[in-house]
Amino acid sequence: MQFSIRTLAPEKAKTGCLVLGVHAGNSLARAGQLADRAAGGALRRALAQGDLAAKAGSTLLLHRVAGLAAERVLLVSLGERGKFDVGAFREAVRGTATALKGLGAKDAVLYATDLAVASRGLPWAVRNAVLGVRDACYRFEQLKTQKKAPELKLASVTLAVTGAPLTAQAQAALKEAAATADGTDLARTLGNLPPNVCTPSYLADEARKLARQFKLEVRVLERADMEKLGMGALLSVTAGSRQPPKLIVLRYGGAAKKKRPLVLVGKGITFDTGGISLKPAAEMDEMKYDMSGAGSVLGAIRALAGMRAPVNVVGVIPTCENMPGGAATRPGDVVSTLSGQTVEILNTDAEGRLILCDALSYAARFDPAAVIDIATLTGACVIALGHVASGLFANDQRLADALRAAGDDAWDRVWQMPVWEDYQEQLRSNFADMANIGGRPAGSVTAACFLARFTRKMRWAHLDIAGTAWRSGREKGSTGRPVPLLVRYALRAH
Ligand code: BES
Ligand code: MN
Ligand code: ZN
Repeated sequence: MQFSIRTLAPEKAKTGCLVLGVHAGNSLARAGQLADRAAGGALRRALAQGDLAAKAGSTLLLHRVAGLAAERVLLVSLGERGKFDVGAFREAVRGTATALKGLGAKDAVLYATDLAVASRGLPWAVRNAVLGVRDACYRFEQLKTQKKAPELKLASVTLAVTGAPLTAQAQAALKEAAATADGTDLARTLGNLPPNVCTPSYLADEARKLARQFKLEVRVLERADMEKLGMGALLSVTAGSRQPPKLIVLRYGGAAKKKRPLVLVGKGITFDTGGISLKPAAEMDEMKYDMSGAGSVLGAIRALAGMRAPVNVVGVIPTCENMPGGAATRPGDVVSTLSGQTVEILNTDAEGRLILCDALSYAARFDPAAVIDIATLTGACVIALGHVASGLFANDQRLADALRAAGDDAWDRVWQMPVWEDYQEQLRSNFADMANIGGRPAGSVTAACFLARFTRKMRWAHLDIAGTAWRSGREKGSTGRPVPLLVRYALRAH
């Protein structure tokens, strides 16, 4: 889908569908007022019939309104005029996209200036309108032989501006958002692919494909490389699997060579059975999403490279399966990590931290300005924060603040949790430097505390996306989070 932005008088918009915002009380927003004047009051007369619900996101479709060049007019509720906030904005964009998807219109015009939320500004509205429409139009049907939904007709969307001159920031926002949506879609599709397709080798091929397409540097470490380096923790997780493990390193250099990179480390468990500490059968299929951290790293790099962002980013992706089997790691096994520290594996289902700790030690070689790991790490994080916020943990408060601000801006929110030393004693082991589990209390915090032992010399943050990377139930599917947050952070901080 193509997006463009320009100054355009609504009555002159020659388009399949002109989208106009309406506040509660049938009060047309700016573009709607202009269109209504040209249409001799036809829009207000239509609204007076009472067919448009006041709830933000409700829509009413009109055909061939005399005086307007558009074939259709879609009236969209924006809710109370004084209360137009981010929530109402999102509902309005989602309602618009849902209505547009069902039409025969090939193109649409949407007034970004009517969507500006107080204190956020036009570039914000542009970015989030593009992301919202793209989000609603995403489909994953490549494995269905019988397509259920009809082909999407909508091919281009113009974000229009009235009055105000078009700024360079608004143009840049459009480009940034389209690339971010491409990256988010990639993360979603990788997450949605079944675990017999999306294997560690598949992820490595995907990274090589990105490298070719966007001229990135890529290197894939194989099992023998990991053995040579001494990645005992990562190797212990892959031990029961027939799929070869990979450590993917993907590099995008958009800034000066001497500028220290942002390193993104993504958990890439392509299927998590729990290993010998086997998970229960119910919903185990959802453990195909356990590579969502890896998917978000590939997605974020794709986005940044796609928009030629002036940043240096390195993606480090440890990826393997967690399977039971005759060669699988046992509870009680002690392994030696790349850092030299030893770990007693008391539960083979706490595997994410094991592959991440070696990847984080490896990340130090890039001399990162900051390192952020992204992982579907703990069920405990879902209990703590549900499906709204990702868990944020950090050893540097400025980094944490910047991530929280980026998450607010991208509406891909995080909530900070402590990584206090007080929790470290829960990881005590009688037989090794530490255990890989810390008991039930504060499960997501002790998981982060485990990782903290491998990142002491770096500015580090950890995002636990167990509750936000996918949706369950009828709408089951990957969300692509936190690609929007990562992109926003990378652009702001570097
Ligand atoms: N991938 C899971 C975390 C997870 C569980 C994400 C449920 C989303 C939904 C992770 O590898 C895991 O199994 N964690 C264990 C850790 C425990 C054994 C300390 C968990 O959360 O139960
Ligand atoms: Mn697990
Ligand atoms: Zn896992």
